[in-house]
Amino acid sequence: MRQLLVTSALPYANGHIHIGHLVEYIQTDIWVRFQKLQGNRCIYICADDTHGTAIMIRAREESIGEEELITKMQRSHIEDFAGFDIEFDNYGSTHCSENRELCEEIWNSIREAGLVSQQEVTQLYDAEADTFLADRFVKGTCPKCAAEDQYGDSCDRCGAHYSPVEMVNPLSTLTNTTPEVRSADHLFINIERLHGFLDEWTRSEGHLQPEVANYLHGHFLHEPLRDWDVSRPAPYFGFNIPDSPDNYWYVWFDAPIGYMASTRQWCDRQGEDFNDWWAGEQTEIHHFIGKDITYFHTLFWPAMLKTSRYQLPTKIHIHGFLTVDGAKMSKTKGTFVCASTYLKHLDPAYLRYYYASKLTSRVDDLDLNLGEFVTRVNSDMVGNVVNLASRAAKFATVGLSEKYPDDGGLFRQAAQDGREIAQAYESCDYARAIRTILAAADRANRFVEHHAPWKLHKDPEKTAQLQDVCTVALNLFRQLAVYLSPVLPRLAQQTGELLGEPIERWEQSQQPLLDTPVGKFKHMMQRVDRKHLEAMIAESTEHDATAGTAVPLAETCSFDDFMKVDLRVARVAAAEDVADAKKLLKLTLNLGGDEQRTVFAGIKEAYRPEDLVGRLVVCVANLAPRRMKFGLSEGMIVAAGDGGKEIFLLSPDDGAKPGQRVH
Ligand code: MSP
Ligand code: ZN
Repeated sequence: MRQLLVTSALPYANGHIHIGHLVEYIQTDIWVRFQKLQGNRCIYICADDTHGTAIMIRAREESIGEEELITKMQRSHIEDFAGFDIEFDNYGSTHCSENRELCEEIWNSIREAGLVSQQEVTQLYDAEADTFLADRFVKGTCPKCAAEDQYGDSCDRCGAHYSPVEMVNPLSTLTNTTPEVRSADHLFINIERLHGFLDEWTRSEGHLQPEVANYLHGHFLHEPLRDWDVSRPAPYFGFNIPDSPDNYWYVWFDAPIGYMASTRQWCDRQGEDFNDWWAGEQTEIHHFIGKDITYFHTLFWPAMLKTSRYQLPTKIHIHGFLTVDGAKMSKTKGTFVCASTYLKHLDPAYLRYYYASKLTSRVDDLDLNLGEFVTRVNSDMVGNVVNLASRAAKFATVGLSEKYPDDGGLFRQAAQDGREIAQAYESCDYARAIRTILAAADRANRFVEHHAPWKLHKDPEKTAQLQDVCTVALNLFRQLAVYLSPVLPRLAQQTGELLGEPIERWEQSQQPLLDTPVGKFKHMMQRVDRKHLEAMIAESTEHDATAGTAVPLAETCSFDDFMKVDLRVARVAAAEDVADAKKLLKLTLNLGGDEQRTVFAGIKEAYRPEDLVGRLVVCVANLAPRRMKFGLSEGMIVAAGDGGKEIFLLSPDDGAKPGQRVH
């Protein structure tokens, strides 16, 4: 029996789980369930990644403390994962005492090994947001190939890695302002000292997929490795570095240690010895991650583990990115679908099955093609597999035969397939596992079609024959349910209930079940309804419009500054179209008594003149008049929105009178 510790990357606590993330968590969950089914001792460990600038920013945006934000997010992540039947043995948080202690311990080892140095770092600083900018919060032009609109750490077009300070025309994505360059002392780890070790480790026996090893050797390991900057000055949400109290560990230092901290929590709960899982050869450690975080897991992380004398990963399984209908997930197209939105409309089994049918052991991106999603789920999963049960179970009223009937070798053939399917799961080539399973399902369906239990059922002379046909069909179905149980745990559970024996072990696919009653057949799975799929996309699209543009707040203004602006309630006395202008309406406003103003307002696409006459608006009454092509504009009315059709005039509650000051 193998002992396995399996992890998925720790999702950031600054956002919700979406269908892109789910590629990874479903992939890992399938692998873990497969290992457990094989009888291996296996635990699935994960946690929320809670530190760093992104969390600080999001907490500020929501006007709550960081701790409150991460507690809320963790709850929401756990709920989303449960909704997709992703079953962790422990789901922790990097913001916990176990993690702090392990960070200190590992840090001390790295210090003792003489790998830490202090260096001055110039970084981009957003003075308006009062924070140093993490690479992700800077966009600009690539210093190597001049591609525009690239992130602060690397270029999508040419693959170059650089520091944001090197970028041409950098902009802070927080405030859209040009950041300043500021200096501070940071702590660095000299990983070049582990170059030899990393060279060998990345090359040797199956630690990495071959294309990943090649990539690392071609991009990083062919030259000296740069020192790794592992500290950040305040303000930063994270753990204080004990021997450098003004600094915090960079989130990527404490995040992977979170794998260990979460394991420790599990060990404490189970009465297990932590060292059995992280410090001994008896445990295989498998990390599942996306390709974007390869560098951290294949170079820094092994270097940290090596230096602190912990167990190195057995294998790092790297997957590609999700695209939807061939393009990046997009909020405007409604393809940026949150886990919770998906669950409101569709069965999680569909996505588990669909991803499984597409995942291979390679790093390639995976496309969710919505048309293909419907066909694969409806014809392959429901039509080919699940229907097998309904076509036979209904007629199996007398239960399964005592002896397994002659089925022309079908059961044996499918039992033999088990080895290939298991190998495919083991190597993460789920697509191959599913293909083999579907081929067996085809053979089983042909058998059922040929013996037509629905006909036998009408002939009272043929009850024995009917029982035999149902016994074969249900056993062939059960084999498939066992093989698919890592992907479709609910189907396996329903099958167990139908046949009176829970599906818990892979070997159950090798022996037919006999002489046992068959439960009342309950429908196991619906087909995907396109309408539900469309509703999900529609809801994800709306979501974007309302979540809208997070325009950063303007600079603080004093009370006196504010009072300079004289806002007044005004009644629209007249409104007319300005024929030559695309956007303008000419409004005549009454500000109480005889006080009138003419205002040209850019609201034509959002309002019709006749709907405005008589209503109350809020007007900037002391704005310097402005000469326009169509006449003099003597003020401005206030409205929210981005322009075009998205303009929303502000109006006072009932009772307000023209001329009243607004403050
Ligand atoms: N917090 C880090 C991981 C720290 S591990 C010590 C992180 N978090 S994340 O929330 O951005 O991503 C979590 C995992 O989901 C990563 O492995 C990432 O590659 C994966 N995915 C996020 N978006 C994805 C897609 N669109 N497609 C496929 N996987 C994606 O990275
Ligand atoms: Zn470039």
